[in-house]
Amino acid sequence: MLKHVNIKPSYIDAKRRTKEEVKILTDEYIMTNELKKLGLGKKYHIITYGCQGNVRDSETISAILEDMSFTSTENIEDADLILLNTCAIRENAHNKVFGMLGRIKHLKMTNPNIITVLCGCMAQEESVVEEIEKNYKWMDLVFGTHNIQNLPRLLSQAMELNELIIEVFSKEGDIVENLPVKRESKYKAFVNIMYGCDKFCTYCIVPFTRGKQRSRKEEDILKEIDGLIKKGYKEVTLLGQNVNAYGKDLSDGSSMSKLLEDVAKTKIERIRFVTSHPWDFTDEMIDVIAKYDNIMPYIHLPLQSGSNNILKLMGRRYTKEEYLTLAKKIREKIPNVCITTDIIVGFPGETREDFNETLQVVDEVKYDGAFTFIYSPRENTPAAKMDDNIPFEEKQQRLYELNELVNKYSNNSNNKLLEKIVPVLIEGVSSKGKDIYFGYTDTMKLVNVKCGSEDLGKIINVVIKDAKSWSLNGEKVNE
Ligand code: 5AD
Ligand code: SF4
Repeated sequence: MLKHVNIKPSYIDAKRRTKEEVKILTDEYIMTNELKKLGLGKKYHIITYGCQGNVRDSETISAILEDMSFTSTENIEDADLILLNTCAIRENAHNKVFGMLGRIKHLKMTNPNIITVLCGCMAQEESVVEEIEKNYKWMDLVFGTHNIQNLPRLLSQAMELNELIIEVFSKEGDIVENLPVKRESKYKAFVNIMYGCDKFCTYCIVPFTRGKQRSRKEEDILKEIDGLIKKGYKEVTLLGQNVNAYGKDLSDGSSMSKLLEDVAKTKIERIRFVTSHPWDFTDEMIDVIAKYDNIMPYIHLPLQSGSNNILKLMGRRYTKEEYLTLAKKIREKIPNVCITTDIIVGFPGETREDFNETLQVVDEVKYDGAFTFIYSPRENTPAAKMDDNIPFEEKQQRLYELNELVNKYSNNSNNKLLEKIVPVLIEGVSSKGKDIYFGYTDTMKLVNVKCGSEDLGKIINVVIKDAKSWSLNGEKVNE
């Protein structure tokens, strides 16, 4: 029988940042003949919470499970293995996962052979792992964001030993190359360009759950994109918590503007990137985006707050004025650009005046869309220790007001497209009716399009006939 010593997360280690060199590991993924047969006859079901980074991780987890002969099922009731890839960004993400664990417990009670697994950002939290050890002991495996490559060994241990296996590292993190991937789409792909984050915004748990900022080597990124082009992919989204800082940790002259330009030269048809931090957004980047037609005119530029007092408390390292100058420059230099944002309301100490300044920035930038959140304290972050004296009703009221304003501008932005012809990458069948497919414009707007199955995977011209708050309707233009 295999021995296992549980390794649990540590807040102190997760906070640490040293000068230690990041290792690029290429031979970490070990798949023996025995492990290859472990899932024979068994089905897996993955539920993914949170951001695109998690979606991309789940694509690797799927590929690993299929390497082990598991097959996928859409139906959780049919699954022999249920895996939750979790998000820790706000409390409601937490609550959803614990709610789901309640449901999974019932399935496990009726069939104790079901293997239950939790991974992702919540697994990196000390308090979550303590809670699982205390109240969810029936679970089989918890692993973290730094050791997906160990899944085959961990699963075989979990299946052999009848006990809860925990392996979570709170180290700063390496870069693991050569992991398999089973992509959800045949047309568009997520490509990690960097992992982790060193910004330590005071409200944010990500620097603790994802480790230090580590950029992949440009040659590895370009190799991955070349492989995607050969397979017929039309679109890549370059992923990172803070993509504009790409390359700053490499000291080989790498930068986001150079990477964007080199990716543009591969001639892949569409390039997107998320998420940008206003602080690292250079003029060179704006010029490169404006210069290449295959870099999409869509910038997600988190504001978080429009008040300099709050930005300072958040540790965002830019002022409202600097942000506005940047947004103006982007609008001026990139034709037809759409700018979206993230905003938090009710941060500790946010006064009505602070909030009004946020509304003013929204009025000025006229965002094409925005994700808005009520501040949620995250354990062990600096903001969680700040005095938070705003009543919850007041926070809800601010969110409501902000959403009203944001919706006004996003509706305007959608309405501007009425009767216009826009390029849309057709990705799949829409649930909206017969011969209706869905896809996204260059500016990342969802469109339901009347066209045919021969258009799947193609970028076609669409005339917009109807604009809703969250989507557009259109028809293919027959050329
Ligand atoms: N509370 C509320 N929203 C948060 N975000 C990050 N941390 C928190 C938090 N503690 C938001 C930010 C970020 C987006 C991904 O989630 O707006 O840009
Ligand atoms: Fe969190 Fe700030 Fe890093 Fe974004 S930049 S992941 S908000 S710490």
